[in-house]
Amino acid sequence: MRIAVTGTGGQVALSLMERAGRLPNVEVFTLGRPELDLARPETIWPALASSRPDLVVSAAAYTAVDRAEDEAELAYRINGTGAGAVAEAATRLGVPIVHLSTDYVFDGSKQDGYHETDTPAPLNVYGASKLAGEIVVAAVAPRHFILRTSWVYSPFGTNFVKTMLRLASERKEIAVVADQLGNPSAALDIADAILRVAVAMGEGAAYGTYHLAGTGTTSWADFARRAFAASRASGGAWAEVRDIKASEFAARAPRPLNTQLSSTKFASTFGWTMPHWQQSLDEVVGRIVRDAASVNAVATL
Ligand SMILES: NC(=O)c1ccc[n+]([C@@H]2O[C@H](COP(=O)([O-])OP(=O)(O)OC[C@H]3O[C@@H](n4cnc5c(N)ncnc54)[C@H](OP(=O)(O)O)[C@@H]3O)[C@@H](O)[C@H]2O)c1
Repeated sequence: MRIAVTGTGGQVALSLMERAGRLPNVEVFTLGRPELDLARPETIWPALASSRPDLVVSAAAYTAVDRAEDEAELAYRINGTGAGAVAEAATRLGVPIVHLSTDYVFDGSKQDGYHETDTPAPLNVYGASKLAGEIVVAAVAPRHFILRTSWVYSPFGTNFVKTMLRLASERKEIAVVADQLGNPSAALDIADAILRVAVAMGEGAAYGTYHLAGTGTTSWADFARRAFAASRASGGAWAEVRDIKASEFAARAPRPLNTQLSSTKFASTFGWTMPHWQQSLDEVVGRIVRDAASVNAVATL
């Protein structure tokens, strides 16, 4: 099976490349800028058509949540129009699409986990542009799996965990928002889940929208605390965490207070549940610390 993934340096794209390497008969390759540029939809069909995939994974996106408030047109062009063009190309090729979306399509006013039947009401431009993408993908690609995930981190690219570890090497105490709740999701676990979908689609798994997030809920502050504990245990940097409210942090984009996602529909359809966030976080942080140590060791040679 040939799986085309959009975005060359994205966390999910690189995780898919790594995880697929363990599987026989699965070839994952990435398509990205400049050959495939979501901001230039005319590049999408030629890039996808010539790659002849059996499945398209639409993982590339405009993901800068705060910057999107000032670049709304670009965010919609990439996450809405661009995502739609990828889905159209998949349909024209006669293959299914897995499209990644976000917990930020919800406003966070619910007290418990969001289900696929809950009504989206994004608070920020990023969430609204991703919702626009979901709508167009579902409209133009009947064979779609829209996977909403949340709080993605990995050893690759930039993410909350890597930012925290970098800050810990510069400061003793870090203020982190403690009143927003969600499910941290390791990109490597998301990759495993997508490969499950790839296998199941041959067995007739139902198309539609699914929530897919790490098991267990936490706040950004406790997420950071756990990352520092894991880093410290591996000999890496750590800092004390001081709880603050989101209102004190004053980020450019408003963020929902609770975006727990219930992943039970995915579990019952595909027979797989993401590992507990603490387990995956410990593994990923251990790897980040080891990678940094080996880079430093090479630098001092
Ligand atoms: N990160 C999160 O916390 C989070 C949470 C919920 C949902 N999601 C969703 O999950 C998916 C994967 O996220 P991620 O964390 O893997 O993303 P990421 O690490 O931020 O990477 C984004 C990818 O999109 C590519 N990209 C951006 N603009 C593009 C354009 N105009 N044309 C082509 N490619 C472009 C980037 O290209 P380059 O490699 O060239 O930079 C990069 O490969 C996205 O759909 C995102 O919305 C993410």
